[in-house]
Amino acid sequence: MIDSSEMDWNSLGFGYIKTDLRYISFWKDGHWDGGSLTEDNKVHISEGSTAIHYGQTCFEGLKAYRTKDGEINLFRPDQNAERMQRSCRRLMMPTMPTEVFIDACKQVVKANEKYLPPYGTGGTLYLRPYMIGVGDNIGVKPAPEYLFSIFCVPVGPYFKGGLTPTNFLVSSYDRAAGNGTGAAKVGGNYGGSLLPGAEAHQRSFSDAIYLDPTTHTKIEEVGSANFFGITKDHRFITPASPSILPSITKYSLLYLAKERLGMEVSETDVYVDQLDQFAEAGACGTAAVISPIGGIQNGDDFHVFYSETEVGPWTKKLYDELVGIQYGDVEAPEGWIEKV
Ligand SMILES: Cc1ncc(COP(=O)(O)O)c(C=O)c1O
Repeated sequence: MIDSSEMDWNSLGFGYIKTDLRYISFWKDGHWDGGSLTEDNKVHISEGSTAIHYGQTCFEGLKAYRTKDGEINLFRPDQNAERMQRSCRRLMMPTMPTEVFIDACKQVVKANEKYLPPYGTGGTLYLRPYMIGVGDNIGVKPAPEYLFSIFCVPVGPYFKGGLTPTNFLVSSYDRAAGNGTGAAKVGGNYGGSLLPGAEAHQRSFSDAIYLDPTTHTKIEEVGSANFFGITKDHRFITPASPSILPSITKYSLLYLAKERLGMEVSETDVYVDQLDQFAEAGACGTAAVISPIGGIQNGDDFHVFYSETEVGPWTKKLYDELVGIQYGDVEAPEGWIEKV
């Protein structure tokens, strides 16, 4: 266990650090037990668990932020709870009620408060809720029992650039099938993304960009983040597709762009050969926050948006609004901040 007084808050990356306590709850015979906090960071499960063989696993990711006056904010945890419920239904797993999910998040943050990076360091406490099918089983069918847990890790930026633009590579692999599990946050989507991600990294790109699985002409996802582009006349555009993970950050930006920055917004097709319409582009997500996209390599074509070194003005305005809300510096829309 790391002594948090020795943490270098300003140089945190996105790596596993064992924190003190995690929440764990078991589902059996049709109901969840009361849940509790444990020091044990190992899970001991049956060798027949469906999570091991058949990918019956889903997860979430959300963050706790330290505000200027020392309070702790969770950003839209109800949205993570609801998305996890949709992922669970897709994989025939039991759901965790929203109030239990949020209460468990708060318990984990409180129990590990010393790992929450101070205001001003750019760090956050990343919460990782997950659910897996466990118990003795061998056939392809839903598990007899389930484990739900939430652990936390202090993190810094996900893409090494932070607000400095980085470049991305269009992959020839599909992330998800057209009517598959792309809209659910399930383990299998990520197992399949490791190879395309590694290929992008080997070629010095930040991550892979996935096109739509049916026509391979439209942008779907930017690694583990959603894509957005800002047109030359300041419209905020983000792809619409049933195989994209509905990003909570993306829907927050759609709202903020329209209501706070007065931008026209739309979710529509984004053709990879029509990137000239955009003056700026970015990747958005809980981990990615808003990461400006410098350029996109698609085959032999390299398309640069605003700049490969500077964040564009509209991307910066959106970033300031979103991050300001998360850290409590900007007034949040009703219901977006849950105090711990
Ligand atoms: C594939 C994928 N797309 C998009 C996102 C961004 O979603 P959110 O903004 O809810 O974190 C994530 C991360 O959760 C992701 O894994």
